[in-house]
Amino acid sequence: MSDTPSPSRAAGRLSARPSAQPRELMTDAPDLAGVWTAQVITLFPQAFPGVLGESLTGRALKDGLWQLQPIDLRPYGEGRHRNVDDTPAGGGAGMVLRADIVGRAIEDAKARAKGVTPVIYLSPRGRRLDQPLARELAQADGVILLCGRFEGVDERVLEEHEVLEVSLGDFVLTGGEIAAQALIDATVRLIPRVLGNQASTEEESFSDGLLEHPQYTKPAVWKGRAIPEVLLSGHHAKITGWRREMAERLTKERRPDLWRAYRARHDADPDEDREL
Ligand SMILES: C[S@@+](CC[C@H](N)C(=O)[O-])C[C@H]1O[C@@H](n2cnc3c(N)ncnc32)[C@H](O)[C@@H]1O
Repeated sequence: MSDTPSPSRAAGRLSARPSAQPRELMTDAPDLAGVWTAQVITLFPQAFPGVLGESLTGRALKDGLWQLQPIDLRPYGEGRHRNVDDTPAGGGAGMVLRADIVGRAIEDAKARAKGVTPVIYLSPRGRRLDQPLARELAQADGVILLCGRFEGVDERVLEEHEVLEVSLGDFVLTGGEIAAQALIDATVRLIPRVLGNQASTEEESFSDGLLEHPQYTKPAVWKGRAIPEVLLSGHHAKITGWRREMAERLTKERRPDLWRAYRARHDADPDEDREL
């Protein structure tokens, strides 16, 4: 994690910073000062912004509430074909991204980063992406994300840069780009003003360690299924109580792990048979 701001000559929100980086390795995007920034090291920079360019995250990106700087790993490669990988030491299938090449890309990203900017490798071995981590990352000044490909990345570069490994779940993706977009989406929506209605992040799943209550909208009856009466009662206290009860019931049924943690936080016995 780097918490040393690199020198910048700020001119309004646009800042120019001296860099030893060759021009071909730099992103075209202007650098907005003081804006949460995701730098993404990838062999597929064209995959960005992808779905992040749509809807609320896309609008916030255009409005400069956060910024995205894909960094193409390929130009860091060596030789005529700009090779970035080699065969695994000790043998075995596939290829491994080289420490020296990935290392140079991370060093450049760190030199451009401002304030607290953790370096994260998207990896099935990592700690699971969850709402507390997204909240923590939204408080930082940005992130440097490393998207793996092939068999992954030489371990030494992860050690050298004290990289945090983060997983999307217990399955194997072909590359880190989809996981990077998921992490950015979960984080950026917690940045103030990105979602029009901040209250929605306070009520949704995981905000209080519970899954969200069921949602309904018009029509009032659909295929013989009516919206629960209490939601149409206009009685706010009863509605809040019903939603809390449903959130607790769903969490207890579907996610005993979350339920235990929630009950422990509220000083209650998770095994005590509570009427829900
Ligand atoms: C084919 S995978 C490599 C899998 C690796 N050989 C292993 O068995 O752990 C290629 C890249 O996809 C990304 N990836 C795969 N699964 C992921 C997951 N569950 N979460 C985050 N990133 C993942 C990582 O960046 C990884 O380096």
